[in-house]
Formats: sequence, structure tokens, C-alpha cells
Amino acid sequence: MTEPDFYTMTEDILEHPLFQQLRAYPHHGAGNTVYDHSVSAAQCAFHMAQRFHMRPERVEAVTRAALLHDFFGYSWQSEEHRRYMRRYSGWQRFTHMHAFIHGPHAANRADRVFGLDQRQKDAIASHMFPLAPFPKNSEAWVVTLADKVVATREMGRTAWQTISRQKTA
Ligand SMILES: [Fe+2]
Ligand SMILES: [Fe+2]
Repeated sequence: MTEPDFYTMTEDILEHPLFQQLRAYPHHGAGNTVYDHSVSAAQCAFHMAQRFHMRPERVEAVTRAALLHDFFGYSWQSEEHRRYMRRYSGWQRFTHMHAFIHGPHAANRADRVFGLDQRQKDAIASHMFPLAPFPKNSEAWVVTLADKVVATREMGRTAWQTISRQKTA
């Protein structure tokens, strides 16, 4: 039996207009967008899940969850988001910071648009661990690890570009 490839299991999400919108949202610097980051995290999760010998249906579930882990649908670096944050002050502002709220928000939105099972929803909601609750299933661990591996690579690239530019300035 041939196992489905990455594109076959994610095609409907990749081509959906709401997912395509993520191309417009900057993320980890150096031209990186939420779309680029999400696709890289999903590819990383896909390979990790195969390495961990997860069952084929769970490989697909975790790959789709990783693809949707940042499906919050706004630019967290925009003036609009800064204006939204100014409605809150003190502790309220802290608890409404993007880092804390976007996991559960992405899980609910992804469920509304694409339909998720409970393990996928939990995985997306907790991907910001340790800023989010402890990952409680194998899908949640794969998504949080894939996100961190990819984010570190992307921010490393941005840091390298900044340092190189300053060295030559
Ligand atoms: Fe995130
Ligand atoms: Fe992420």
C-alpha cells in the first residue's frame, strides 16, 4: 500500500483562499510569511511523524494540524493589531498578547473552516508551550516541536542577515 504524500494530504488547505491569505502576513523576518512558516512546520511535522512511526492516519492528522497551527487570520505585526491591543491595559493586555491567544484562536478557526478532531485542536491550542498548557498527546508534541525547529531556523536566518548587514555598515 502506498502512503499518501505531503501534497495529497494537504492540497485542500494549501489551495483554500483563507489559507492563501497567510501569504500577506509577515512572520519571522527576512521576507518570511505565516504561509511560508506554516508550510515548513507541516513538512517538518510530516517527516517527524514518519520517523516516530505514527499510524498513517495520524501522520495525516498531525501534518494538517501543523499546517493550521498559525491559522489565526490576522497580521500580528500590523497597526490594526496594535490598535486592538491598546484596548487592554495591565494584566489584561498581558493575557491578550498574541503569543498567548493565537493558539486557541487558530484551533477554533481551523476547526470552523476545515474540521478537526479533538487531538488536532489540542495540538494547535498548545503549540506555544511553554507559554501554553503542557502538550497532552503525541500530535501536540510533534506540532510544538516542529514549530520550534522551523521558527528557530527562520529567526536564525533573520538574525544572520541583520548581523551581516551591521558588520558591513
Ligand atoms: Fe504560533
Ligand atoms: Fe508557528
